[in-house]
Amino acid sequence: MNQSSHSDFFDKIAVITGASSGFGRELAKQAAARGMKLVLADVDGPALAETAGMLGGVDSVCLRCDVSNPDDVKELAETAYAEYGAVHLLFNNAGVMATGPVWASTPEDWQWILGVNLMGVVHGIQSFVPRMLEQSEPAHIINTASLAGLTSVNGSGAYCASKHSVVTLSECLHHDLAQQAVKHIGVSVLCPAFVPTGIADAGRNRPDSLASTNPDAAAYEDKVRKAVESGRLSAADIARITFEGIEAGQFYILPHKAARVSVTMRMEDILEGRAPRDPSVIR
Ligand SMILES: NC(=O)c1ccc[n+]([C@@H]2O[C@H](COP(=O)([O-])OP(=O)(O)OC[C@H]3O[C@@H](n4cnc5c(N)ncnc54)[C@H](O)[C@@H]3O)[C@@H](O)[C@H]2O)c1
Repeated sequence: MNQSSHSDFFDKIAVITGASSGFGRELAKQAAARGMKLVLADVDGPALAETAGMLGGVDSVCLRCDVSNPDDVKELAETAYAEYGAVHLLFNNAGVMATGPVWASTPEDWQWILGVNLMGVVHGIQSFVPRMLEQSEPAHIINTASLAGLTSVNGSGAYCASKHSVVTLSECLHHDLAQQAVKHIGVSVLCPAFVPTGIADAGRNRPDSLASTNPDAAAYEDKVRKAVESGRLSAADIARITFEGIEAGQFYILPHKAARVSVTMRMEDILEGRAPRDPSVIR
């Protein structure tokens, strides 16, 4: 069932993490085109300034923010509310990827991926929802998961684990708000398949303290890079479809229609007691 829709974005405030590249940059452009004011956050400060420069002079604030650090995300929320007094759209979008078989992923791989992809979203929810509960105007939280949060593929165990976590976290957030009869905060979870962005080069922003030592990663990285580069929808398409989903009050936003078959396949395997079939790579 759809939630109540939120479609009048003019003069409203959007906070976007991972805004220096890919989906985050395109979400910023879509939000700016709708007349929104923006709070843009990323670990990559110079690329964030480039994003801001692409927005035609809209009212915006840029903040260097590592979403895996709760204090950085608290500061992001404090900045957004101090500057604008309300937040109407929160995109918990920043994410990273590292590859390799589950047994070969290093403790640093796990810490990095879960720190950014899972705890980044947790920090966003914990820093913003209490403030959104206090504001009278409607708000909507959009968590970027992935098709990898609804299916399971080889060579991406840590990434899939982080994205399945984002899906269930989003579902639980929806239930928690409904259980407390909160009507003015909506939730969506975005689950795209492969799209050409900077994600295959996510290691560019990996902290030295969590550097990769996984000897198996390179072979998988090439495979993922080819899959990402061959994605048929662009980051701009994903941003447009995401705004349409918010406007329609959709909880699950699956931009790749053909990919739905892999979700059905997984559910059938679960319900029929089979071992999971490997979903074909769908773009
Ligand atoms: N591109 C795809 O095929 C695809 C598919 C499904 C889901 N996703 C998800 O989409 C989201 C956006 O990724 P993208 O594809 O645009 O990749 P991208 O690499 O182009 O953008 C990701 C952004 O996140 C930023 N970032 C990385 N670590 C950060 C941190 N600790 N704190 C703050 N910002 C950080 C990066 O600097 C970058 O600007 C991610 O959550 C990713 O997992 C991507």
